[in-house]
Amino acid sequence: MASILPKPNKTRLAQLAELSAKIFNNVYNPKGERTGNKILRQKLIGPTVVDWYPKRIITLRKITDMFPRMELVNQEEKLRLEEIAKRKKRGKGAPKKVHTHELPPLTPTTLHIHFLASPINPSDINQIEGVYPLRPTFTKELGVLSDGEHKELAVGGNEGVAEVIAVGDQIKDLKVGDWVVIGRSGFGTWRTHAAATPNDVTRIDNKGIGLIQAATMTVNACTAFRLLKDFVTLKEGDFVIQNGANSGVGQSVIQIANAWNINTINIVRNRPDIDDLKARLKSLGATHVVTDEELGCYKTKELIKEWTSINNNVGVKLGLNCVGGKVSTEMAKYLCRSGYHITYGAMSRQPITIPASLLIFKNIKFLGYWMSKWNQVHSKEERIEMLNEVIGLIRQGKLGDIAHDEVIWGNSNENDESLKIKFLDVLDKANTGFHGKKQILKIQL
Ligand SMILES: NC(=O)c1ccc[n+]([C@@H]2O[C@H](COP(=O)([O-])OP(=O)(O)OC[C@H]3O[C@@H](n4cnc5c(N)ncnc54)[C@H](OP(=O)(O)O)[C@@H]3O)[C@@H](O)[C@H]2O)c1
Repeated sequence: MASILPKPNKTRLAQLAELSAKIFNNVYNPKGERTGNKILRQKLIGPTVVDWYPKRIITLRKITDMFPRMELVNQEEKLRLEEIAKRKKRGKGAPKKVHTHELPPLTPTTLHIHFLASPINPSDINQIEGVYPLRPTFTKELGVLSDGEHKELAVGGNEGVAEVIAVGDQIKDLKVGDWVVIGRSGFGTWRTHAAATPNDVTRIDNKGIGLIQAATMTVNACTAFRLLKDFVTLKEGDFVIQNGANSGVGQSVIQIANAWNINTINIVRNRPDIDDLKARLKSLGATHVVTDEELGCYKTKELIKEWTSINNNVGVKLGLNCVGGKVSTEMAKYLCRSGYHITYGAMSRQPITIPASLLIFKNIKFLGYWMSKWNQVHSKEERIEMLNEVIGLIRQGKLGDIAHDEVIWGNSNENDESLKIKFLDVLDKANTGFHGKKQILKIQL
């Protein structure tokens, strides 16, 4: 039987479809354009992807946190808390006070110095934490405290530059106005003034040297200098690889190597402003900069192979390890046969794992370096020779300031309490990763 209703026209049908889409919350798409809806309607594959990865191992810490009522003992955490309690008993921890003392009277064999600038280095912090092998010098000679107490005290800081302000009659090789750097660890440089003996200090010729360079040369620059000199004979065009490349030592390594025409491959931790950091290190003379995350990728491996094989190069002869942990193992894999892997820092506080193959088949030599030991076993003359070489590089403009924040110390509006708050803040910054700048106390009186 034929329909008695007339067939609806196209426009009418389109209007109906639009209305229906509105009512049922569908997309009205009369031209059938690609919208991606087909893909959005597909079953989610997230759970499948998650299942593909191995299950995360649940840690004891997580279990104890999840079930506190079970009172499970986390042995590692217990030992950590016990260690902190022990250190606290021994008086370790952040410095408690800013003290004011009178300098002891000058004697014929002593001198008085006024500090100009002193950095805060990671080893200073380790010393305060009680995990550094050298203790600061505790003495009662600093005198009676403002509250009348007379107890043994130590001053923090191991590096700094000072000006001589008074000299005992019998001292012939130092005069008022000379600049001196501290010649031994544990002297205590976070202070305005000190009484010293000639053996505590080394005079430097400050012509053409900035305050920051003078304040940081004995630890960062001298360590970099020795690391590049003492293990492998490097010639122009050779390659060195280093992690923690934006550290004070790392920046000095880049600049000294650049001055000697040695190539550097520099590893830094990835961060949001990584391009700025790469550009900054390159402006110092870094040949290549890669992140810790890029280090293990196939593309980086191929690139490093390509960089280090130019001009019949044998590969990377020296690896400098500031960090420890996984990145130090990865770095070791780039060393050439019989290359040297030198550990001088442990910023990640992670142990170093050495694959047996690197020892057996590549004969890589894993060694350590400690500047304080070098200073102890070498003569004052050798130390002066090294300082003069470093100063020479500074004067030639080849070794500039490391990235730093200057903290003005000794503003007339400050008292002991406000200085203490300021100092703890600076200490905190110095101990914070990704900050990227050495904290330097610039002492003004
Ligand atoms: N053996 C020696 O004679 C000698 C001499 C001088 C220094 N050192 C040691 O060398 C290291 C560097 O000293 P410095 O004065 O050059 O230090 P610095 O200027 O204060 O720089 C610290 C460096 O450590 C990195 N870092 C901080 N926390 C880290 C972590 N958890 N994992 C990986 N990297 C981390 C920082 O990178 P980010 O920007 O990524 O945080 C930065 O590159 C220290 O361990 C120090 O004790 C040893």
